[in-house]
Parts: sequence; C-alpha cells; structure tokens
Amino acid sequence: METEKKTQTAAEQLTDRDLSEQIKKVTKDSHVRAENTELMLSFQRGQVTLAQYKLLLCSLYEIYQALEEELDRNSNHPGVAPIYFPAELARLESIEKDLEYFYGQDWREKIVVPTATKRYCHRLRQIGKENPEFLVAHAYTRYLGDLSGGQILGRIAQKSMGLKSNEGLSFFAFPGVSSPNLFKQLYRSRMNSVELTEEERNGVLEEAVRAFEFNIQVFDDLQKLLSVTENQLHNGSAHSKPVTTLQIPGTMINTSPLLRMVLGLFVALATVSMGIYAF
Ligand code: HEM
Repeated sequence: METEKKTQTAAEQLTDRDLSEQIKKVTKDSHVRAENTELMLSFQRGQVTLAQYKLLLCSLYEIYQALEEELDRNSNHPGVAPIYFPAELARLESIEKDLEYFYGQDWREKIVVPTATKRYCHRLRQIGKENPEFLVAHAYTRYLGDLSGGQILGRIAQKSMGLKSNEGLSFFAFPGVSSPNLFKQLYRSRMNSVELTEEERNGVLEEAVRAFEFNIQVFDDLQKLLSVTENQLHNGSAHSKPVTTLQIPGTMINTSPLLRMVLGLFVALATVSMGIYAF
C-alpha cells in the first residue's frame, strides 16, 4: 500500500504550481455542480433514456467538431502541441458512428442543436482564433472527464438503454488508450510542461471554470428541451388529439396553436361574410 502510494507520487510529481493541480482545484465546485445536473443524475441513477442520450450525442457532435477542428488548426501552437493527442483522444468519428446507429444514415439532417450548445461552440471557435493557449482548458474538461467519470457512465448507459452490444456507445470507448489512469498522468504532465505567463495561466484557469459552465448549460438546455416535448406529449394524450411537435435545429415548433389561429381566422372571416350576405 505504502509502495503503491510512493510510486504514484513519484510518477505524478505534482506541485501546487502545476497547472493540472490548479485546474482541478478551481473547477472542483463546478464538477460537483455538473455531476448534479438532472441529465448527469439520470446517468448515475441508471435511468438515462434513449431520448436523453440521442440528444446528448447531437450536442457532443457539435462540441467535439469545434474543439477538434480548433486543436488541429493550432496543433503547432506551443500551448497546444504538448496536449495534442488526436490518435488517442479524438471523439468526432466515434460520435458520428453512434449518431448513424441511432438516427440512420441521414442523421445529419435530423440532429437537434440547442442554443447553449451553439454558444459553447462559438466560444471554442473564438478562442481557437484569438487565444489558442486557452484550448487546453476545454480539452482538459472534456477529455479527462471522458476518461474519468465518462468510463463509468458508458457502462451504466448500456444497461439503462438495454443495448445488447457496444453499438451506439463508441463515444465512451478509447481504443488508443490502454490505461486511462496512466494516460491521465501523462496528460497532466504535458499540461504542466506548457509555458504560460502569469496572465495566461489565470486566463486558462478562468476558461476551465467557463468550460464546465458551458457543459452545465448544455445539459440543462437538453433537459428543458426534453421536458417540453414530454409535457406536450403528455398534455396531448390527456386531451382528444396528441400535439404534434416539429423539431428543428436549436428550437421546437408546436403546430397546434398555429392551426388554432388559422381556424379562428377562418371562422371569423366566415362569420363576417355571412353577416354581409344576410345584410
Ligand atoms: C455523472 C457525472 C460524473 C461523474 C460520476 C464523474 C466522476 C468523476 C470521477 C470519479 C473522476 C476522477 C476523480 C479523480 O481521479 O480524482 C472525475 C474526474 C474528472 N471529471 Fe468527472 N464526473 C462526472 C461528470 C463530469 C462532467 C460533466 C465533466 C465535464 C464536462 C467532468 C469532468 C471531469 C474532469 C475534467 C476530471 C479530471 C479531474 C482531474 O483529474 O483533474 N466530469 N469525474
């Protein structure tokens, strides 16, 4: 036990000045808040639904597309090069596979992207252009999260959704990483090798808190979108006819009020015409 502890300390050799330690410290509270979002609680309770997971995949697709494009474009930047591990970490292709599994070949036309996801992606593109040294904060938040709690969530998701194989769950699999723990150690040491001025370091730390905040907002937005759909379906079944909802990227349209307005106009016009005729 004692030897194990020593080996671990020697392998990591972390100090209070290390970016990996500072980033973990400043995002500790945000991590707790992220874990306690309704979506993450559904995962942890083994109650994640197919609807939740499908919607999450759509957002993850947009997020990783932005993140990985910006990492690729800045791969030679001194703040990015040490933590650039596309072969081990890139998620975009696995998410595409999962989307195709759940939505079919024309998944690109079907995906739904809530506003919070668009805001997150906008920020990723902005820092990719203006402050590439901040990308480490986002890469850390997503990839180390996927290699930590994400590994447990993948197994839970499979059971919750009753999936027989790993199909539809490629997102959680990292075939290029044989030991997530060892890889995380390597990643942390690479983070710590990035040379940053005091101002840049503070910027990265602030950006990491922001990255968690973006994720929390994405989860909350997804949940809201789902509860609107569920409420509409529920209310619809309580009345005579179910309410049809159209889902278009970033928003939802409820067709029944529109239909009611057109019908109302039609009735009003008919009444007026009948009045004129009678007169
Ligand atoms: C159900 C939700 C979650 C659970 C159960 C969970 C659990 C965990 C666990 C057990 C660790 C390992 C802690 C350690 O090694 O000291 C971890 C680390 C981490 N998690 Fe989560 N997590 C969840 C959600 C999230 C989310 C939503 C994010 C970000 C979007 C995230 C980002 C991270 C990061 C960046 C780390 C690495 C911390 C470090 O070693 O510096 N986690 N998580």
